[in-house]
Amino acid sequence: MAASFPEGFLFGAAVGAHQVEGGNTNSDWWWWEHRDGSPCVEPSADACDFYHRYRDDIAMLAGLGLNSFRFGIEWARIEPAGGEFSTAQLDHYRRMLDACHEHGVTPILTFHHFTLPIWVHELGGFADSRFPQLFERYCERAARALGDVIGYACTINEPQGLGWSGYVLGINPPGVKGDQRAARRAADNLLEAHRLATPAIKAHTKAPVGVTLAIPDLQYEDGAEPGHSGFEVESEVNDRFFDLARGDDFIGVQTYTRIRIGPEGPRSPGADWSGVSRELHETDEVTQMGYENYPRALGGAIRRAWKSTGGRIPILVTENGIATIRDERRIAFMAEAMDEVLKCLAEGIDVRSYIHWSLLDNFEWVFGYTPRFGLVAVDRQTFARHPKPSARWLGEVARSGKLPTSSGAL
Ligand code: BGC
Repeated sequence: MAASFPEGFLFGAAVGAHQVEGGNTNSDWWWWEHRDGSPCVEPSADACDFYHRYRDDIAMLAGLGLNSFRFGIEWARIEPAGGEFSTAQLDHYRRMLDACHEHGVTPILTFHHFTLPIWVHELGGFADSRFPQLFERYCERAARALGDVIGYACTINEPQGLGWSGYVLGINPPGVKGDQRAARRAADNLLEAHRLATPAIKAHTKAPVGVTLAIPDLQYEDGAEPGHSGFEVESEVNDRFFDLARGDDFIGVQTYTRIRIGPEGPRSPGADWSGVSRELHETDEVTQMGYENYPRALGGAIRRAWKSTGGRIPILVTENGIATIRDERRIAFMAEAMDEVLKCLAEGIDVRSYIHWSLLDNFEWVFGYTPRFGLVAVDRQTFARHPKPSARWLGEVARSGKLPTSSGAL
């Protein structure tokens, strides 16, 4: 096994725009959070006020020892009405990218992370045939303004789950349940959107461009029959994205757990998301999200992404983490997950980053603020940041390029 991470390896943390910025009032999620009967336990409100506090956050991240930051730009702000682009908002994001460079931090920029401008939602959102071209136009415009300061560009975050969550489970906007055809239309449109957005972004930047995929480690047990669980449908869509990614500059791997599939279908805790529970009970076996605490899933996911894209597309781990109120668990989780990264490197897989989800405790979509994914706690009244021991642990790994011999050692 590789003893240390290679020179130039990116160690960082990630946030998604809507989950931390606050006041994203022109988006479909804002509508969803406030609508009658919303499944969201609470609205995003001011989130972490990252929109105003990004400078301090980037300085804090760099001060911890991390050399990379993944964050998003918000389409609903940049194009507040169809075809109307906001120079002021693009300037805002440019200042964020500049702040990263001032601190020697490589910015990994996400163009789309779940949310849509409300006017795109009203046109029919992901399931509408106009979606790919609208997304292409937005990406072209944003890349024209920001391309020279981007480190890596991610087109769409976890596109393969968006149709399923919004049109089958109904836990994301537009909140439709059981419409598999609309979910497939959304998946087709998202594939096309990535295909169109990639050259539109590349026209204005030298930064590598790719897509970031949710890749649970699917483990089939003896006697498991291929069926129609949500995970298998999602994994079919994943295969189409893997094919498309063969032409990209990198692939983003995002993993949180494994799903074991037995003869009767998925049998891991939390594998049936149809009735997403609002009760977040962390136990020794499961995280606050109700799924299995299984950090070694990262190795399975990296190997799957590598093989499925022909064994030559560089891999960025763009998200990996655990929702827990026991921070020492986060350290143990990272130690095992990063050990898997070292194993994959030793097997010859070209892994270039470990970006932890998340920098901050933030808005976890329908679950609100209860799940604690952050390396840094955020006071919900004052927005004060409090780095946890896990933040210092990851910073130390980044500085030394090595994992400590015992996970609790730092
Ligand atoms: C998403 C994040 C989310 C995280 C933890 C990923 O699927 O990109 O937005 O907060 O998982 O659930």
